[in-house]
Amino acid sequence: MKLLLIGSGGREHALAWKLAKSDKVEKIFVAPGNGGTGTCNKCENINITDINELVVFAKENSIDLTIVGPEEPLTKGIVDLFKEENLKIFGPDKRGAELEGSKSFSKDFMKKYGVKTAEYQVFYNVDKALNYLENCEYPIVIKADGLAAGKGVAICQTKEEAKDTIKSFMIDDIFKGAGNKVVIEEFLDGVEASILSITDGKTIIPFLSAKDHKQVFDGGKGPNTGGMGVLAPNPYVTAEVKKDFEENIMNRTLEGIQKEGFDFKGIIFFGLMITKKGTYLLEYNVRMGDPETQSVLYLMESDLLELIEAALKEELHKKEVKWRKGTCVNVVLASMGYPGNFTKGYKIKISKEIKEKVFLAGAKLEDGILKTNGGRVLSVIGVGETVEEARNEAYKNIEDIEFTDKYFRNDIGLV
Ligand code: AMP
Ligand code: GLY
Repeated sequence: MKLLLIGSGGREHALAWKLAKSDKVEKIFVAPGNGGTGTCNKCENINITDINELVVFAKENSIDLTIVGPEEPLTKGIVDLFKEENLKIFGPDKRGAELEGSKSFSKDFMKKYGVKTAEYQVFYNVDKALNYLENCEYPIVIKADGLAAGKGVAICQTKEEAKDTIKSFMIDDIFKGAGNKVVIEEFLDGVEASILSITDGKTIIPFLSAKDHKQVFDGGKGPNTGGMGVLAPNPYVTAEVKKDFEENIMNRTLEGIQKEGFDFKGIIFFGLMITKKGTYLLEYNVRMGDPETQSVLYLMESDLLELIEAALKEELHKKEVKWRKGTCVNVVLASMGYPGNFTKGYKIKISKEIKEKVFLAGAKLEDGILKTNGGRVLSVIGVGETVEEARNEAYKNIEDIEFTDKYFRNDIGLV
């Protein structure tokens, strides 16, 4: 099969690496890809991001299946467009993608189908939102309705902070439209877990749980990032949490997908908060997590392409996903200064021995030389029977990677 994989992150390098292991795969075009997918087995980067141009490429190159990495093309309706052109594609339709594309849409969906989630209110009007803040309990959570590159959520400790946040979202319009509507939500205290899963609209199969480390500094301090490293499986996801999740979140979500009539053959990612009062859904994503994917796919024994093909045929009920035993840690090496300002363009040296344990993200090939090209530059993998073993391996591998301004957290996996 010839595949087209859309995206350019560490997630896409991990997806390309995993898909290339399938005997059925002859070639993977990655659009636009990065320095990792550019040198990955069976892969070739193509410099296209426009959805309409991707349709043309898929037709002209007889692509058998397109797999979408990031949320943006999904919310723009890439799946609907490919289907209109009779091209096979894996991902939810535009309506289903609204579960990630609009916070108010997803909260209303959760409420309608009884999915356990924090209490909330939706506001379109600044004065009403400001007025609501007068009598709230603090901390409170304010979310921009639309996609805001992972920056649209603010946890406000005081009324003043909350008012400033509302003003910056709704008046100063810092997210260019995405914050004109806001969700104001009850603060939940607990530990987070990511559960990625695959669905064909009839069955959902959850993958191994994962623990992201979102803040930039050790001990969970500093501003939020896209994710600084992941431990999988997540030790907080006990059998009891799993049961709570399946009954009160996953199965109700599936019922909602069916009743709303979404055409949803894709990935659904549950962002959970495990609290003393039980497990709550914070958010849906309609794609794999980054860097969750790097750890989860590393432990996946099953052929991912076969799972995707089963989902497209609505035959997931016949499938079981097999996992390697043990634990996987991935530590993100970032550019110093991320998630604020940082410098790009530094040479990256990776010793040969650990190449198979590195997934590149913000890294590009320039005349055959690998250079930093983003905030999160790459992820380094460690595996082991215990968390300690996996951590030791990941941190040892980091010593074999060099670039100027290399920054990483020291406590990934210590939960
Ligand atoms: P979201 O994009 O909704 O996952 O929010 C991003 C991050 O904000 C989450 O990973 C949590 O760390 C935090 N967050 C979101 N909603 C809440 C909430 N209701 N209570 C506490 N933290 C939250
Ligand atoms: N690592 C969190 C995300 O991909 O949304």
